Amino acid sequence: MIRAIYPGSFDPVSNGHLDIIRRAAEKVDELIVAILVNRNKSHSLFTVEERMEQLKLVTKDLPNVSIDCFQGLLVDFARQKDAQVIIRGLRAVTDFESEFQMALTNRSLSPNLETFFIPTSVEYLYLSSSTIKEVASFGGDICGMVPCEIKQALMDKYKK
Ligand code: PNS
Repeated sequence: MIRAIYPGSFDPVSNGHLDIIRRAAEKVDELIVAILVNRNKSHSLFTVEERMEQLKLVTKDLPNVSIDCFQGLLVDFARQKDAQVIIRGLRAVTDFESEFQMALTNRSLSPNLETFFIPTSVEYLYLSSSTIKEVASFGGDICGMVPCEIKQALMDKYKK
């Protein structure tokens, strides 16, 4: 039985994240999507509670996916959840250096915890939560970048 964790900021969840969640969920028994609770709350557009609700909404058709959040080291959270695998999506070569460093750091802290990289689907290669927020903040069209429910939440945030 493989229990995996897909950690991230998900501020907000994009179609690229959702693609990774769906593909990972097909390959493992249980997938925990885990939001990092950042100590500096002012860096996030959505609260952790809002992001948890959003992720629950967009993964409601995936029975082996659950949503959680964590503080501190990912390896400690993985130990607590008895997870053996970390999932990370890889977009381009530019992601590789930092992701490789993170995977090796996690492995040195917890040798039995393995990181599995999933290459992003080509249509989502260019997506990142920060560019999505920038486009949305200037009233640009974010259709196709985020699930419909999240598009509305983003528009509401920037209307305020
Ligand atoms: O979506 P992001 O911001 O790329 O996700 C980064 C995340 C949350 C996976 C990473 O920052 C993380 O795991 N932070 C927890 C702290 C930790 O364990 N650090 C050691 C590994 S570098």
